[in-house]
Amino acid sequence: MSRKIKIFDTTLRDGEQSPGCSMNFNEKIEMARQLERLGVDIIEAGFPISSPDDFEAVKAIAKTVKNATVAGLARAVKGDIDRAWEAIQYAQSPRIHTFLATSDIHMKYKLKMSPDEVLERISSMVALAKSYCPDVEFSAEDASRSDMNFLVKAFDAAIAAGATTINIPDTVGYSTPNEMFEIIRYLKSHLKNPQVDISVHNHNDLGLGVANTLACIQAGATQVECTVNGIGERAGNASLEEVVMNLHTRKDIYDCTTSIVTKQIYRTSKLLSTITGVGIAPTKPIVGANAFAHEAGIHQHGVLAQRSTYEIMAPEDIGIYQNKMVLGKHSGKHAFAERLNELGYILSEEDIANAFERFKVVADQKKNITDKDIEALIGSSALEI
Ligand code: KIV
Ligand code: ZN
Repeated sequence: MSRKIKIFDTTLRDGEQSPGCSMNFNEKIEMARQLERLGVDIIEAGFPISSPDDFEAVKAIAKTVKNATVAGLARAVKGDIDRAWEAIQYAQSPRIHTFLATSDIHMKYKLKMSPDEVLERISSMVALAKSYCPDVEFSAEDASRSDMNFLVKAFDAAIAAGATTINIPDTVGYSTPNEMFEIIRYLKSHLKNPQVDISVHNHNDLGLGVANTLACIQAGATQVECTVNGIGERAGNASLEEVVMNLHTRKDIYDCTTSIVTKQIYRTSKLLSTITGVGIAPTKPIVGANAFAHEAGIHQHGVLAQRSTYEIMAPEDIGIYQNKMVLGKHSGKHAFAERLNELGYILSEEDIANAFERFKVVADQKKNITDKDIEALIGSSALEI
């Protein structure tokens, strides 16, 4: 019987911390709506104490989203937790996500707190969060570089105070898949009460974010934290589309399901890239421009004879409909608007009409208008909320 893995999306929080990826109020709402269509279980909408604009965006997302839990991040301090609750209380399913570092290096140099003080703070702040909200997640920042005995104590304290999810971040992207696997196994067998969701949050500094996440799933993690296009602090977070499509494509290994509507993946990726103006490398797995392109003659021949010779996933499964409709100078505005929609652009009627005029000029000069041509004539300024 397949296990269901919860997808916790932090594009709007950790992702937004990525240089060049900050989003304004309207952009965050638009992205949250798309994440809801994508089917994520939890949307981490932001860090409400971090700025008045982020507070308002988290509050608006809490009021808008109906089919996903909405989480707000808070350090393990009263002011943060109060502010997070103020913003997310309107959600149908709110979650407070609070965190405190547990590694020696963070406790000594950053927090300047003793291990006992850290345990005491975890107990009191998780209890405060719980007094507001039944759904509380506790993250042990820098968990993967923490002493394992202390990590167990920290999570035992959080669970005793009411945490329903415990999260194990590889905050600096330092660990290997084997190490992350062992950490999850160790926690599962040493926690006093392991009957909570066990979550992982892997950064990608050494390029192992996705591999580490998959190893944690194999060790029994029930929730994974990730971002669209893998955006996030420094080298980013585990990429949502890569984790999900690994589970989807290698069911024989993982035997896990998610609630993700995979056909919405491409559109979500494009929308984020349009909003932020941050492009996607052509070789990026799943959503890069070359991910389903076959250049070599031998490959083209193989794919034409039988797709599975060189394709392990169907582009349609992630919402790429190649050659579905050929656009040219005879095409109408409706077909053009439909293609824009498929490509993930959200434009006003007026912008569609303007873009359509530019399209007609290009179409008079070119026989075949490709998606790349359309993307070029739309540019990144076209998003209209
Ligand atoms: O990377 C990290 O440790 C975090 C925590 C706040 C979960 O983003
Ligand atoms: Zn992080």
